[in-house]
Amino acid sequence: MTPPIIAPSLLSADFSVLRDEIQAVERAGADWMHLDVMDGHYVPNLTFGPPVIKALRRHTSKLFDCHLMTERPDESIPAFADAGADIITVHAEATTHLDRTLQLIRSLGKQAGVSLNPSTPENVLEYVLDKLDLVLVMSVNPGFGGQKFIPAMIDKIARIRAMLGDRDVHIEVDGGIDPQTAPQVCAAGATALVAGSAIFRGGEEGAYRANIAAIRDAVAHGGQAEMAV
Ligand code: DX5
Ligand code: ZN
Repeated sequence: MTPPIIAPSLLSADFSVLRDEIQAVERAGADWMHLDVMDGHYVPNLTFGPPVIKALRRHTSKLFDCHLMTERPDESIPAFADAGADIITVHAEATTHLDRTLQLIRSLGKQAGVSLNPSTPENVLEYVLDKLDLVLVMSVNPGFGGQKFIPAMIDKIARIRAMLGDRDVHIEVDGGIDPQTAPQVCAAGATALVAGSAIFRGGEEGAYRANIAAIRDAVAHGGQAEMAV
């Protein structure tokens, strides 16, 4: 199995020193930076927007994987593109015209992602499969880090993998990913893993390195590994 992309969710980082945190997690082995944008309407939480992303952009060369948990995403997609997002992922439930939204993201030269909440069936992807670069399967209800993984999402990942056929599209999984759940989602077809609390626990670079290695090892061995605490 190809090793998965590891995308730490900065939601679990120390927001008072975000620059230090992205640099620490980059040195610790992160592949992408997962940036959770919340608007306080689509989800009951608020985080950050384009100005913060723009400020962070020059402090790492890692890909910026922007997960928009926002209503009416079309209105802000150009600002996220301008701020330095590489992948822009919208929620299928948050846009009325998903096909148009994906075309907008690609027209700005960015990779287009669609996220599905746990209760959203995968068939909403059926007619946009050729306009996608990434599918983000939420394995918790969006809004907060540290929630429990929903096992029914494993079957959903396998169904999406089958729908995608031989298309070069990532399946990224977000929520409750740790050394126990990572092997299961990868076996079902996930190629990118978001993890917040399982990576940032420990609060310093050495712990991040051990936490990322524990996820990678667990996937490589198809089982469990130790995490730093
Ligand atoms: C939840 C966010 C996630 C979150 C994951 O709405 O999209 O990226 O940070 O956190 P953990 O890995 O702690 O479940
Ligand atoms: Zn996310």
